Amino acid sequence: MASVLRKNALISLLLIALMLVIVAGLEAESIGDAGSDLLREILRDEAVERINQLAKISDADGYLERTFLSLASRKAAEPIIKWMQDAGLRTWVDQMGNIHGRIESVNRTEETLLIGSHYDTVVDAGRFDGSLGIISAISALKVLKISGKLLKLKRPVEIIAFSDEEGVRFQSTFLGSAAIAGQLPASVLKTSDKNGVTIQDVLKANSFEGTDGSLLQVKYDPESVWGYVEVHIEQGPVLESLGYPLGIVKGIAGQTRLKVKVTGSQGHAGTVPMLMRQDSLTAAAELIVNLESLCKYPDRVFTCNEQCGCYSKESFSGLVNFTVDVRAMDDEAREIVVSEFSRQIYQICDNRMVNCTIERKHNAEAVHCDSELSRQLKQAAHSTMKMLGKNIREVPILMSGAGHDAMAMSHLTKVGMVFVRCRGGISHSPDEYVMDDDVWAAGLVLLNFLDQQVIDDHMSS
Ligand SMILES: *[C@@H]1O[C@H](CO)[C@@H](O)[C@H](O)[C@H]1NC(C)=O
Ligand SMILES: *[C@@H]1O[C@H](CO)[C@@H](O)[C@H](O)[C@H]1NC(C)=O
Ligand SMILES: *[C@@H]1O[C@H](CO)[C@@H](O)[C@H](O)[C@H]1NC(C)=O
Ligand SMILES: [Zn+2]
Repeated sequence: MASVLRKNALISLLLIALMLVIVAGLEAESIGDAGSDLLREILRDEAVERINQLAKISDADGYLERTFLSLASRKAAEPIIKWMQDAGLRTWVDQMGNIHGRIESVNRTEETLLIGSHYDTVVDAGRFDGSLGIISAISALKVLKISGKLLKLKRPVEIIAFSDEEGVRFQSTFLGSAAIAGQLPASVLKTSDKNGVTIQDVLKANSFEGTDGSLLQVKYDPESVWGYVEVHIEQGPVLESLGYPLGIVKGIAGQTRLKVKVTGSQGHAGTVPMLMRQDSLTAAAELIVNLESLCKYPDRVFTCNEQCGCYSKESFSGLVNFTVDVRAMDDEAREIVVSEFSRQIYQICDNRMVNCTIERKHNAEAVHCDSELSRQLKQAAHSTMKMLGKNIREVPILMSGAGHDAMAMSHLTKVGMVFVRCRGGISHSPDEYVMDDDVWAAGLVLLNFLDQQVIDDHMSS
């Protein structure tokens, strides 16, 4: 009898010990008290499904195109709003068509953390550019909702899906984020597309006011904002070459775009003697080769989109236009390259007896990401690698050669960005591809960032 009792006591002790082990095990592998299956389900499987769903909403037949306030854009807003609400967010659409989803913190007057990306696309776009940043943010908040952690926010969190980043229709990039950052002058509303329809017309057709006043309403007060975070595909091959799914962006390169027009005289290749030619194409070739050698420094990216429309085998060309795009993290260095190149243009054109004009089409200063925010995102990326059981090395730090909404938002608040690996660095193409596990990493890095920086675990809920 006594021994049976003792045996029972032993079994219950064992049971209690076992339960403690199970509880401890759950604690160790859970984040936001959600199991890792749940994390995979929401941050990877559901996120991928949503990215695919959004990519089906297009203005074109057979390829993806969603421009500022187009029919497809308005249709795309519906699932985005639904997903935001599913994550426990209060939603609204502002006067520039940006979609907002917000959750308040206990202290409602604390500055807000903004997380965003764009839901417009280029023509014949990929699925991930923009969408990945919006959907991974929504998924991360959904996990926090399920785990009850949304009640422990130190500050309000707001996801913004920006209405225009690519600038396809009006050639004016960042209409959505620039308006929020207070960087969009009212005169921009008069910009027209190739059919003569203005931004104001489009806004009004979509039941927005489209006035100076409504533009002002969209603007955020810098005092009310804590910072801005964006997750975006890299659109370059660096992370893939390093074999790492995530990277921290140290800054976005400044950019100068010049349009160079070289005018020579046209002639027959067989009859005009070499020394009498005023060939704009060879002049342009020399200019481009010179620029290439000017730009062969690290951290400076140069791309030249030649549009040598008049070239043919039968005649040398009379007119060549080309676009020069100089990008650098160092604004001063960029300016030096641009002015030296301009000097060489005039000299070379003079020597070759052709006429050159240079037009500055676009100029943007470099943006430096906030170092503290970047450190926090790096920590979150490190935790993400650990959770995924991946080989943990130093998280790569990259420069962004392409512009992003973070560029506009940097005028409002401090910004931080995370890049996600994409296959072959290919973007703005239907071949754009991010592995499912990297979509998972994108959601996890935001979840870890929120968990580490915005959740107050001591707060009683
Ligand atoms: C709420 O946040 C504001 C802004 O940071 C701060 O001044 C205030 O003291 C906070 N209130 C409470 C009750 O913590
Ligand atoms: C260059 O411009 C000058 C002045 O406008 C003009 O006289 C000349 O014919 C032009 N040369 C060429 C090659 O177009
Ligand atoms: C070059 O640019 C001028 C305007 O700057 C335009 O009129 C002309 O059609 C362009 N030519 C080519 C070949 O692109
Ligand atoms: Zn983008």
